[in-house]
Formats: sequence, structure tokens, C-alpha cells
Amino acid sequence: MTQLYLQQEDEQEVIFLRPRDKGILSTTDEPEEYTVPRNRDLDEKSIVHIESALNGSAIRSNVRSANNFIQMDGLTINTMRNGRVMVVTSTKGGIGKTTLAMSLARHLHDLGKGRTIIVDLQHPHGNVASRLRIKSEVNVMSWLPYLQQELDEVTLLSKLVVRLEEGYYVLPAVEIGQTCPMEAAAAIIRELKRYFDLIIVDMGPEQHDLLVSVMKAADKTFVVIDYDFSTLKDVGNYTALWKKQGISDNVFALVNFDRGRKGRNKINRETCERLLREVGISIVGYLPEADNMRSIHNEGKLLVHEQPKHPFTKACGGVLKKSFPEIFAKPKQKEGFIKRWLR
Ligand SMILES: Nc1ncnc2c1ncn2[C@@H]1O[C@H](COP(=O)(O)OP(=O)(O)OP(=O)(O)O)[C@@H](O)[C@H]1O
Ligand SMILES: [Mg+2]
Repeated sequence: MTQLYLQQEDEQEVIFLRPRDKGILSTTDEPEEYTVPRNRDLDEKSIVHIESALNGSAIRSNVRSANNFIQMDGLTINTMRNGRVMVVTSTKGGIGKTTLAMSLARHLHDLGKGRTIIVDLQHPHGNVASRLRIKSEVNVMSWLPYLQQELDEVTLLSKLVVRLEEGYYVLPAVEIGQTCPMEAAAAIIRELKRYFDLIIVDMGPEQHDLLVSVMKAADKTFVVIDYDFSTLKDVGNYTALWKKQGISDNVFALVNFDRGRKGRNKINRETCERLLREVGISIVGYLPEADNMRSIHNEGKLLVHEQPKHPFTKACGGVLKKSFPEIFAKPKQKEGFIKRWLR
């Protein structure tokens, strides 16, 4: 445990500071808790002192922030989140990217795994906002004037993203005819990582350079596929290209419209796995075709929220757990007196 002494060492009382989302932050190698003497009149110098002591970890002092901070007797420490970024893409349209991106985001939010945002980078017809039944002036282009300056949490949350009633966030797509500049997309993802725990990007391969720049900033990319020979062939071709660009390591296939049982289709779980293994991609999960999916979504709802026990919802949970075990890791329990005594 790191001991930080702010002023006189003879202060008696200590307080513990912990990052709010320990599970997520604890993957970095910063110490798990900090002990500082209680002090009611911390001056500017002391805060700077803490900041430099904690430098390099995910924790910084940031007195401008209105959210996400731990405040104790005048001491304000902002927890930088270092969020996880997952891209949901595909090699063809209409295969379920938006459905899966929205379902994974909503499921993570429902599971209480942290501040979550879905970013719609689909060109030219991103439809996350319309599926969520929201109208907003805010979109990726709103960020352009802000990317030249240092962004603080309040500005970002109030002006550059949309908070849904349910408590998670969305960054809607550009209007038809607009194009998100490549550098802007990567910069937006970097900024979002600072203030969100989970960032899910919905985008197709149409703007390939843009996709590559976002994949580079992401932790994992899920390519949605189905049991279709030409889709698998395209995935092979894209993977070869991504290998050359050095971004294929974190790419995984996500099978949608899985029917589970073997039928007439020659492409099934086994053949699909084998074909993808040949091109160096593994399958991270199988999402079943859900009979009532379209009707639920046409009501502006999401199956994963309406039916938490549905096989599709469970499959979404499985994909997330397998891909980001650190998000699901239980925080270490403090040892109680009896446990310590019996040890
Ligand atoms: N597992 C599933 N079971 C049943 N229906 C599904 C499933 N996944 C997606 N769909 C349906 O398939 C349709 C296409 O899905 P979606 O719009 O998510 O695809 P997309 O890849 O985002 O398309 P686009 O390329 O146009 O952005 C939607 O009507 C959706 O409800
Ligand atoms: Mg879509």
C-alpha cells in the first residue's frame, strides 16, 4: 500500500481513497488504495503534491470536474477511467452490427458495469439514434471545435454526448452527406476513454481508413458474420489486409443468426470455425436468431433489456465476459475479523 504524507506526519486519522470502479482500474498496476492523513485545510500545494505522487496511475486531481470525483474535506481527486473500447463491424450490411452494438451496450449498462456509451460511426446512414427514438443536434461533428483544446468532463458530458433516460449515453452519427474526419474519430475515442468505462462503436467497412483508425484505438474488434460462404471469404480478405496493417491481433468473429442445429447449410459452427481458423480469426460467440427481435425493436425497446433470460441476452453476456473478464472480476473482499483470526 502506498503511503502519501501531505503535511505533518503526526496527523492521526487516515482516510482511504479508492478508484470508484476498482475492477476496471485494477488491471493497471497502480496500487489499489492510497492512505493520506486527514486534513481539513488542504491548500493548492497539497493537491499538486498528491497529483504528482499519483502521476502515472489512472488518478489525477481535476478541480474542474463536476462528476465522477471523490471529494473529501476539500481534497478533490478525479478518477480517469481508461475505458474499454470495442468496435462492432462487419464486411457486409444488414448483418446485425447496430443490433449487437446496442444490445451489448444496453446489457453492460443493465449489469451495472460502468458508464457506457454507444458511438455511431456508421456512414452514411447511422441509425442508432432513430432506433433509440431520440433526436439530437449533437453528433460526431459537434466535437470538431472542441478537439483543439483540453476537454473537461463537464463539457464533454453536457455538450458532446447525449444521456439517455435509462442512464447510458449515445454519440449519434453524422448527417447524411457529412463525413467524420479520420483524425477526429480517433481523437474522440481517446477522449471518451478518459470519462467512460465502456465505449462501443458501431461502424461498417465502407470508410475503411476511418475503420482502421478506430480499430487502432480500440481494445477489441468484433466482426459480425453469418453462415454464408461469401461473408466468410470477405472476412478472410479483410483479415489479410488488417494483418498487413498490424491490427489483426484483436479481431474476433461474432456469429449472428445462429440456429444452433445442423440443417442443410454446409456452413455450420464446425465448418465456420475451421474456415476462420485458417485465416487466423477465432469466434468469440454465437448469437441466436430471435423470432421476436424486430417487433421488440420496432417498439423502441431492446430484447436484452426486455428479456434478460432470453438465449440472445445470455449469449451477449457470454461474449462480454469472455472478451473483458476484468470488467466482470469481483472486487477483492476485505477480510473480516473471523477470517483473519482463522487464517
Ligand atoms: N439475432 C437476430 N435475430 C433476429 N433478428 C436480428 C438479429 N440480429 C439482427 N436482426 C435484425 O436484422 C436486421 C438488420 O440488423 P442491423 O440493422 O442491426 O444490421 P446492420 O449490420 O447494422 O445494418 P447496416 O449495415 O444497415 O447498418 C434488423 O431488422 C434486426 O432487427
Ligand atoms: Mg447498422
